[in-house]
Amino acid sequence: QVDRYLYHMRLSDDVLLDVMGRFRAEMVKGLGRDTNPTATVKMLPSLVRSLPDGSEKGDFLAVDLGGSQFRALEVKVFNDGKQSSQLESKFYPTPKEVIQGSGAELFSYVADCLSDFMESRNLKHKKLPLGFTFSFPCKQNKLEEGVLLSWTKHFKARGVQGTDVASSLRKALQKHKDIDVDVLAMVNDTVGTMMTCGYDDPRCEVGLIIGTGTNACYMEDMRHIDLVEGDEGRMCINTEWGAFGDDGALDDLRTEFDRELDLGSLNPGKQLNPAEQTLTNVALVLSCSNLSLQGRVGFREGGCTSLPPRPKGCCCSHLRAIKNRLLGSAKGAAMVTAVAYRLAAQRKQIDAVLAPFLLSLETLRDVKNKMRTELEYGLKRETQDRATVKMLPTYVCGTPDGTENGKYLALDLGGTNFRVLLVKIRSGRRRSVRMYNKIFAIPLEIMQGTGEELFDHIVQCIADFLEYMGIKGARLPLGFTFSFPCRQASIGKGTLVGWTKGFKATDCEGEDVVDMLREAIRRRNEFDLDIVAVVNDTVGTMMTCGYEDPNCEIGLIAGTGSNVCYMEDMKNIEIVEGNEGKMCINTEWGGFGDNGCIDNIRTKYDKEVDEGSLNAGKQRYEKMTSGMYLGEIVRQILIDLTKQGLLFRGQISESLRKRGIFETKFLSQIESDRLALLQVRRILQQLGLDSTCEDSIIVKEVCGAVSRRAAQLCGAGLAAIVEKKRENRGVEHLQITVGVDGTLYKLHPHFSRILQETVKELAPRCDVTFMLSEDGSGKGAALITAVAKRLHNIGQK
Ligand code: BG6
Ligand code: GLC
Ligand code: GLC
Repeated sequence: QVDRYLYHMRLSDDVLLDVMGRFRAEMVKGLGRDTNPTATVKMLPSLVRSLPDGSEKGDFLAVDLGGSQFRALEVKVFNDGKQSSQLESKFYPTPKEVIQGSGAELFSYVADCLSDFMESRNLKHKKLPLGFTFSFPCKQNKLEEGVLLSWTKHFKARGVQGTDVASSLRKALQKHKDIDVDVLAMVNDTVGTMMTCGYDDPRCEVGLIIGTGTNACYMEDMRHIDLVEGDEGRMCINTEWGAFGDDGALDDLRTEFDRELDLGSLNPGKQLNPAEQTLTNVALVLSCSNLSLQGRVGFREGGCTSLPPRPKGCCCSHLRAIKNRLLGSAKGAAMVTAVAYRLAAQRKQIDAVLAPFLLSLETLRDVKNKMRTELEYGLKRETQDRATVKMLPTYVCGTPDGTENGKYLALDLGGTNFRVLLVKIRSGRRRSVRMYNKIFAIPLEIMQGTGEELFDHIVQCIADFLEYMGIKGARLPLGFTFSFPCRQASIGKGTLVGWTKGFKATDCEGEDVVDMLREAIRRRNEFDLDIVAVVNDTVGTMMTCGYEDPNCEIGLIAGTGSNVCYMEDMKNIEIVEGNEGKMCINTEWGGFGDNGCIDNIRTKYDKEVDEGSLNAGKQRYEKMTSGMYLGEIVRQILIDLTKQGLLFRGQISESLRKRGIFETKFLSQIESDRLALLQVRRILQQLGLDSTCEDSIIVKEVCGAVSRRAAQLCGAGLAAIVEKKRENRGVEHLQITVGVDGTLYKLHPHFSRILQETVKELAPRCDVTFMLSEDGSGKGAALITAVAKRLHNIGQK
């Protein structure tokens, strides 16, 4: 007979696994925006996003209402590196007439008890923040408020359901003129328990209550939580699993005793999840949250229920229970309050650091206007030698017309990669361009060695390439993409004005780069080449794109460096004879600001990056907008935030001290929206930066602020260029194509969009098409060479 009664209480492993599957489905339902309304397991966002990190400090109050005992506490938290805290508390009875009377009575009772507690602790004169553990399902939009969805367990005070419980408590506290308490956080007991344990063990990411009621919470990835905006980071979810089965999902398992108990309860038909199954549910939550199987569970064993023996084979064997009967969940409420306190202070500090990176539309307009002024200075005979935007004539006077043909060599030096190319151009009906190229490394010691070494290395690479292609004997015409500022007197000559980016080879500045290349070829004495043209990468890019789209009259590079060229009317170029037609101008806008004209927007981080660079004081605009420097700005900010104790637990690691660790590709990866925070942490790990989840959110935010500003500044510059083109043409509305290249533009997930948006905003009368150069600038250099060769031949004839 006894066996017959107990038979249904025994659940086989298979049944438990089945229940686990059902529960898991309910959790997913609870997290989904559309499915949540009908889900029984409400999966309530707790607004708790961060676990304690040990840097919390201060004196906090807490009250703990909803378990078998009601108590008030004082928790002192010390930031002494030892995670120490001090706790004093006092229990109060919860008479039935209070918890089942009117809401007003309930809260004034709570306030009275707190006031009594403060009196006894001699705290009445102090203004203290309070954390409120309220162990019932609440809908929270803020940490400091919570609307009671329904009473559970033995509580049933009138007029409370559907109202904000925290504000009711606040109101009741206001009646006590002798105390000054600030209700800062409201948490479920599960959340409080997780936080209590989390203070001692940072791996604790699940909180479990098995007491008067049963419930669990856990840290969930934000991107799985539809009900809260944002995808970054994590948030603690109060599952409210007590209601699992309220839609009949467990009816096959409920016994006649369960039904009887339900009928006799204060909330028949609700909270049907039999407490006995709690352990199964632990396994459920554990199996659903991705980290927790290695994690720990904060475990509070309540007064009423004792644990059934552990079912065999259940995941619970993974559980390492931390029992903290003494501390309970209220210390956790104080911890939540302490964490909220810390985060609010940190937020203020981080906002202050990033504020100078937020540029208003007005500021961007100002940048555009200043750029325009500097462009004019560079073009005018009188001002050009003092101009910071050098506006170098390129002697490229037209875009390709399709008649170009022949075989050409091209060199592409100065971007991320050094390339040697063979370009075969066909004209006429079979018009096409075929390219063969090889990438060579330029070691740092060569980039920053002597000029002779650099050019010998380049010629060595050309020799390898010719060998590799089997064309060593042919004396091919060569176009040299040389992505540094050159003063040109013809297409085939270019004097290096000054190195930029990562190059600093000696004895080159002021020299003709074509001569240097010719001499290196002569020194090697192995093959000969006909060096026809030297072109900037912006010009090569414009030409590459111009071959497909004749409307392309601007070339933009947003890569290692930042620069623009465009077709300017000859009559505006005072330093070149002649007024007819157009010539391409290499603006070298990277030098914008070198006279201090944008110092108002340069931050201390920009200055640090500048000072640590190869060309301090120069290329100020480039250093705010291009790939070579953005990572460095990020690194400077991270160092500062770490010094302020806001990141990496205040420890500046060896890696963070390393210049150049944040290459553009890492920046781009970190900012990718498709990346979960765990992956961001993995990237940081690769860079040698050991980050917490919160750290990685901050790092991502910093990267975003820096790259956004870069794209906006670049957009403001480009707006000045297209506006100038529009005025040159004298049209109301300009349609123009910009050829673009560079790793920042190509790889970064947001740069191109923000750049384009900014141009649209600042130059509304220009309709700008952005055309990505798929083939690099070498193709353009070959096309320019082809044209120059043709003109040269005509001249000779
Ligand atoms: C390449 C061009 O595609 O882009 C180079 O062929 C140019 O000429 C480069 O310098 C710019 O981008 P990055 O990011 O490599 O500096
Ligand atoms: C009930 C409450 C829940 C609480 C649990 C344990 O299930 O609804 O909020 O966490 O009891 O106290
Ligand atoms: C630097 C160079 C410039 C080049 C740009 C992009 O600004 O000075 O010539 O176009 O980088 O590579």
